[in-house]
Parts: sequence; C-alpha cells; structure tokens
Amino acid sequence: MNTPEILQARVRAVSFEAEGILGFELVPMPPLKELPAFTAGAHIDLLLPSGLTRSYSLLNAPHERHRYVIGVNKDAASRGGSRYMHETLRAGETLSIHPPRNNFPLDENAARSVFIAGGIGITPMLSMIARARALGMPWQLHYAARTRRHAAFLDLLQGWRDEPGAEVSLVFDQEPGAAMMDIAAIVRGLPADAHVYCCGPLPMLDAFEKAAAGLPPQRVHREYFAAREAAATEGGFVVELARAGKRIQVHPGQTILDSLIDAGIEPPYSCREGVCGTCEVRVLEGVPDHRDLVLSADEQAANDRMMVCCSGAKSARLLLDL
Ligand code: FES
Repeated sequence: MNTPEILQARVRAVSFEAEGILGFELVPMPPLKELPAFTAGAHIDLLLPSGLTRSYSLLNAPHERHRYVIGVNKDAASRGGSRYMHETLRAGETLSIHPPRNNFPLDENAARSVFIAGGIGITPMLSMIARARALGMPWQLHYAARTRRHAAFLDLLQGWRDEPGAEVSLVFDQEPGAAMMDIAAIVRGLPADAHVYCCGPLPMLDAFEKAAAGLPPQRVHREYFAAREAAATEGGFVVELARAGKRIQVHPGQTILDSLIDAGIEPPYSCREGVCGTCEVRVLEGVPDHRDLVLSADEQAANDRMMVCCSGAKSARLLLDL
C-alpha cells in the first residue's frame, strides 16, 4: 500500500441541491493548475480537520480538470463528516483531499447502460451519464427519492432527459399515492446488451442484488455507501508485515486496522466499513476472511488483496505487503 498524495483544494462554491443535500465545487490551489484526471464513477477522500476521512463520489463530467463537484447528504446518524460539511465548511475555505480513485467504473464498451439510483446514490451516476453522453452511449436512469424536494440535481437531469438515447424515470416514493421503485421489473426488462449500475441505500441494493443474481456478473455493477455485515473482529490470528518486518497479534474485539494502529502503523483508511477501498492491502500469504463490498466475488476468491478495516483471516497467519 502506498500512502496517497495529499492535495489542497479550495471550496469555490456551496450550493443547495435538495432538502438535506449540498453541492460543493472544489478547485485547485496554486501552484496546481489542474486537478488530477478521473474516470466516471470515481470518488475522492476528503481529509477533514477533525481527523475524519470521508469519501464522496465526483459528479461532474470526467473530462473536467478545473474542478471536482461532490454532493453531500446530511446524514442524521453523522459521525461528524456530513455535519461538518453542512454546518461548518464555507465557500473560500481549503480542504485536503486524496486524488480520485474508482471502485465503480463505467464499462465504456457496453452497448448501453442502465443506472438505478436512490437518494444521494445519484452522484456517481451523474458523472457516468456525462461520460455516456460524451461516448454517444444510450442510457437509462431510474432515480428514486423520498419526495421531489429530496431529489438532487433534477435541473441537470431535466436538461438531459430529452436528448436522443436518453431515458429518465423518477420515483418519489413518499409522496401521496406513490409506490416504491420496482427494481425487479427494471432488471427483468433490461436489454440483453445492457450493463446495469446501482447505488443507493441498503434496502435498494439488497433488492438489486436479488433481482440481478441471475445476470452475468460482468454486466452488474454496484456501489455501497455503508457496510452490509459487521467487520471481522474475532481476532486470534497473526499479521506479519513484509516490508516493516513486524509481527502483530490481532486480538478478539479488534480489526486488523485497529491492531495496526495500536502497533504504531497507520495505513490509509477512510470509511472503516469496507466500502471505499482506501485501506486495500496486498496479501502475500494466508487466506483473508473478506467482509468488504469493494472487491468482486472473483477478486475476493483470488485472495491476493483485502480491506484491512473490515476483513479478518481464515488462516492463522496473514503476510501483508506493508
Ligand atoms: S477504509 Fe474504506 S474500505 Fe477500508
């Protein structure tokens, strides 16, 4: 694992996008003239002054180098990240960020793409749609929000929905008389050549996983914002660090990341929930007990990398590239 570079960005603008959702436009700070390039579906980590690191999807078009745009939902259960962004951070201030990384890339060779988004899960889809438009790829968006007032970036979508090759359907499931989005029906109706992407709250992703279980895995893409299962804290195994030359016991009640931090080794991490990919480490020997939602089933089965914030060990020893 290499420690990612830290960049400084200025908050150029803060915008109201929907009830509980603010948009932040970040621009490079001199001497940087351009921000690092990114691909559709990528996210950045913000290193907040409190020491928290938070990941947010980039929603602007991937060809843009002069800015990053993110949307931040004010989470009622905020551990400080979204509360800081909503209540404290102001236009003109600076932020430390890590360059973009992408766990949710658009397959640019697909004949068409179908996007299913719930709430703030719309954000990665916006950069993907911008890229699909640039490629001339037909796309469909199914976007669910509690009410129209809670649906962010509708103006942007309004401008795109009438273009040739575009289809947008909106569901406001808590408005009077409204029904929930029928994800099973959307997946059943997918054209045979479509790739499908889903990002949203856990119940939506659960419904998506069930509906898409029979599809070829390479056509199915999802991004989680929160863990589905608890981190592995059973402990009782040893982690050896190949580069640091250390041997660390992981005790019951601890994750590997906890044990590393206790031993004075602080690898990069952000969500601590297995959803952002920041803490990925190469596994040189041993068998991880994967609990993350970043690696695909095939990638997990290869057992050559793992997320140390949430995954444990099935073997008595792991040798990590740290
Ligand atoms: S810190 Fe996010 S996956 Fe481990």
